Amino acid sequence: MADIFRTIIIFGATGDLARRMLFPSLYNLFVDRLLPEDIRIIGCGRTAMEESAFRGEIDEALKSFLADDRYGAEDAAAFLDRIGYCAVSVGEAKDFEALAAMVSDRAADGIAVYLSTPPSLFAPVVEGLGKACISGANVRIAMEKPIGQDLASSRAVNEAVARVFDEDRVFRVDHYLGKETVQNLLVLRFGNALFEPLWNANAIEHVQITVAETVGLEGRVSYYDNVGALKDMVQNHVLQLLALVAMEPPSSIGPTSVRDEKVKVLRSLRPMDAASVSTHSVKGQYQQGAVDGQPVKGYADELGKPSSTETFIAVKAFIDNWRWKGVPFYLRTGKRMPNRRSEILIQFRPVPHSIFSGRGKGLQPNAMVIRLQPEEQIQLLVMAKQPGLDRHGVELREVALDVSLSTGAAGQRRRIAYERLLLDLIEGDPTLFVRRDEVEAAWTWIDSIHEAWQQAGQETKGYTAGTWGPSAAIALIERDGASWHD
Ligand code: BG6
Repeated sequence: MADIFRTIIIFGATGDLARRMLFPSLYNLFVDRLLPEDIRIIGCGRTAMEESAFRGEIDEALKSFLADDRYGAEDAAAFLDRIGYCAVSVGEAKDFEALAAMVSDRAADGIAVYLSTPPSLFAPVVEGLGKACISGANVRIAMEKPIGQDLASSRAVNEAVARVFDEDRVFRVDHYLGKETVQNLLVLRFGNALFEPLWNANAIEHVQITVAETVGLEGRVSYYDNVGALKDMVQNHVLQLLALVAMEPPSSIGPTSVRDEKVKVLRSLRPMDAASVSTHSVKGQYQQGAVDGQPVKGYADELGKPSSTETFIAVKAFIDNWRWKGVPFYLRTGKRMPNRRSEILIQFRPVPHSIFSGRGKGLQPNAMVIRLQPEEQIQLLVMAKQPGLDRHGVELREVALDVSLSTGAAGQRRRIAYERLLLDLIEGDPTLFVRRDEVEAAWTWIDSIHEAWQQAGQETKGYTAGTWGPSAAIALIERDGASWHD
């Protein structure tokens, strides 16, 4: 691409995300010659450190977090050679000036800044960058979620960023958008003539989106307890999936068209109020139990104090527009679930008239399962005839038309979501990044749930670790005659 940038600055470079994801992804891109050969990557952190010590830390991180067949000593040495370090304390103008001096000879070739710091530092870091003039037309800025904790605080962060960077140079990261199957959703919907005529309330009865994790707090005590599952997962990842499933066909794959359509969906989400929230949402917190046969502590024990923060949430959402009138979108996400699974289920309506009723195992409405992880897979559940002579009537059975993407595209390495996103950032393609209006529309809906919980005094229910959440979450969908796809 014409304007591929040749310098990346990473704030929060000694943090967990940088070590686990950002540097291993950059290494993979570098080794595959997808980065400019003279790329310069500058890590910034609070701690004063020699460049060699920082490189040593990154080397350790590569050894720990890269796939076994990816690490090579020679490649690592070449990669580490491209890395520098600058200690920057927020609010210290001289630190930002030192950083500016490090990149001054490269500014003309474009600089991508990646904020992988706690969100409270976004505004002050951006201000520091602005004052040190690391902010001109040739600088792009990427930041991790969460942008704020509610609509008001996200607006404040967005305002602070907008004072220094125009919106077209702001790249808000939602790493789910970098996942292969998430983009495959676009191809499935808009690269096939088959589905679109059925993709609406006439043919679809309901949609389920599940993002289940087996992990618990993972040492993120101070972050997680102030946030909870609604804000940690639904506000971003789950709503992005919902937007991609529900949006109108964009006129092109370009960033404006796709994001225009997503934001319309997010703005059409029906707000919750104190009356609807108790029947349309369930929040839960895991208690002591077992996952993968191993005993695990409850959330409050891990935290060391009682808390009402939800580690699980199930919501019945509606999109108030023509296409989705009356179609429930059941969303659920939780920690310490029985297995790690992210999937979207499209439940079609039954055939209008069954000629098979009362015979065999019965006619099931079609369903499509789009699985994002652990393995990428798309399954279309259709009815077929049970082989046999049918002396007592045709017997039906459900069969899966199965497109397993990991076998279908065997031999092709699956990329870490961050590899794609980092490449898009330095190449300047914002399609898979979240625009300001999307973030704010998502917060508007999330705030309505949060406020409604408070007004209704809704309690967080306990669930045993290793189960699918509180029984009320099962009731939430079964009241409507449906059930979760477990
Ligand atoms: C993060 C959340 O955004 O996504 C974490 O903060 C969660 O709580 C993680 O564990 C899940 O990501 P993935 O890619 O493992 O599904």
